[in-house]
Amino acid sequence: MQPPQIFVERTLAIIKPDALGKAEEIEDIILRSGFSILQKRRVQLTPEQASDFYAEHFGKLFFPSLVAYMSSGPVITLVIARDKAISYWRELIGPTNALKARETHPDCLRAIYGTDDQRNGLHGSDSYSSAEREIRFFFPDSIVEPIPVGEAARD
Ligand code: PPS
Repeated sequence: MQPPQIFVERTLAIIKPDALGKAEEIEDIILRSGFSILQKRRVQLTPEQASDFYAEHFGKLFFPSLVAYMSSGPVITLVIARDKAISYWRELIGPTNALKARETHPDCLRAIYGTDDQRNGLHGSDSYSSAEREIRFFFPDSIVEPIPVGEAARD
């Protein structure tokens, strides 16, 4: 008989240029929060790549500045996994605006590592379909099927 399987979810985390100096500390928090780090890449995005990644925000006033910022220096992209990874990671990083987050969610990662709504330290996919697209964007060979706990470390 097959042993019972618990499925875990994957999401994409990005350590943005302003938080890169704290990457080790942030990765440690990720691991201590019950995530496995399945894949990791340090990337210098071109403006074209940053535009593609944030295509859903094309046309918004902040789009040019977001693209310039995300291509201004290296970022670290991570595929992280645990149960309910997408919502849990979003909860851990907190609201988009890091400055406001300092008042409402002082313990969240954006409050600690970010400064405003652009330089907010960290990114997290906002849904299963975004996670799938975003993981493939940075890790084209990645399989985005749910994986049983215990197999994550061998991925
Ligand atoms: S929206 O409009 O509500 O969908 O936007 P939001 O989800 O809050 O943010 C989406 C990403 O855009 C960045 N952002 C900004 N960049 C520059 N300037 C301003 N004013 C600004 N507002 C939002 C924000 O950092 C989000 O990036 P990610 O990587 O998703 O955190």
